[in-house]
Amino acid sequence: MGFYDRAIFPRLMHFGMGRGRIAEYRRRIVPLATGRVLEIGIGSGLNLPLYGTAVTEVVGIDPNATLNRMAAERIHTAAMPVRLINGSAEDMPFDTASFDSVTTTWTLCSIADGARALAEMRRVLKPGGQLLFFEHGAAADARVARWQGRLTPLWRHCAGGCHLDRPVDRMIRGAGFTVTGLETGYLDGPRLLAFCYWGRATP
Ligand SMILES: C[S@@+](CC[C@H](N)C(=O)[O-])C[C@H]1O[C@@H](n2cnc3c(N)ncnc32)[C@H](O)[C@@H]1O
Repeated sequence: MGFYDRAIFPRLMHFGMGRGRIAEYRRRIVPLATGRVLEIGIGSGLNLPLYGTAVTEVVGIDPNATLNRMAAERIHTAAMPVRLINGSAEDMPFDTASFDSVTTTWTLCSIADGARALAEMRRVLKPGGQLLFFEHGAAADARVARWQGRLTPLWRHCAGGCHLDRPVDRMIRGAGFTVTGLETGYLDGPRLLAFCYWGRATP
């Protein structure tokens, strides 16, 4: 990991992802988790205080060691046991059918092989489990989507590998999930980054 990804990006990300109305958006999804939960790309642990009493354990995976340390400092904000794993969603060291819920917030954009990561999420979910997601991605209107496509090659290098233009719902369905209760729309913020998809999917 280079200096920027180790020292600068994690702090910028923590600051950016903790601002404005983002906590309110997180509350639309994270409290729906139940049972044994796997959080993909847990980052600095900003979702930890939002898990409810129906959650028995949170396992968080993230490849960035600086973010792992920042999340460790926030474990006390969770009401249940939390385990942090340094690793990638594309190849997870978890048993098949071992989680009741998988959560992912603003993470799918940054995973190099999103399709492989989603296949892994489906593998580790129990039958009857749920994927809960809140992700930004490809905008519904063509003009914004075109600019997202043009700028992604540059943006990826400044923002921890983030793609602006991923078709989140199609990717989730493409991995074999059934999407239920999908909502989409522009949230607060620059339009290139603000078009979001949130909801629930079953394996
Ligand atoms: C924009 S941040 C969001 C962090 C957190 N999910 C949140 O809502 O605050 C994107 C996160 O994805 C993580 N990430 C990048 N590649 C990943 C991968 N292959 N597997 C799991 N997480 C990854 C990054 O380290 C970072 O923590």
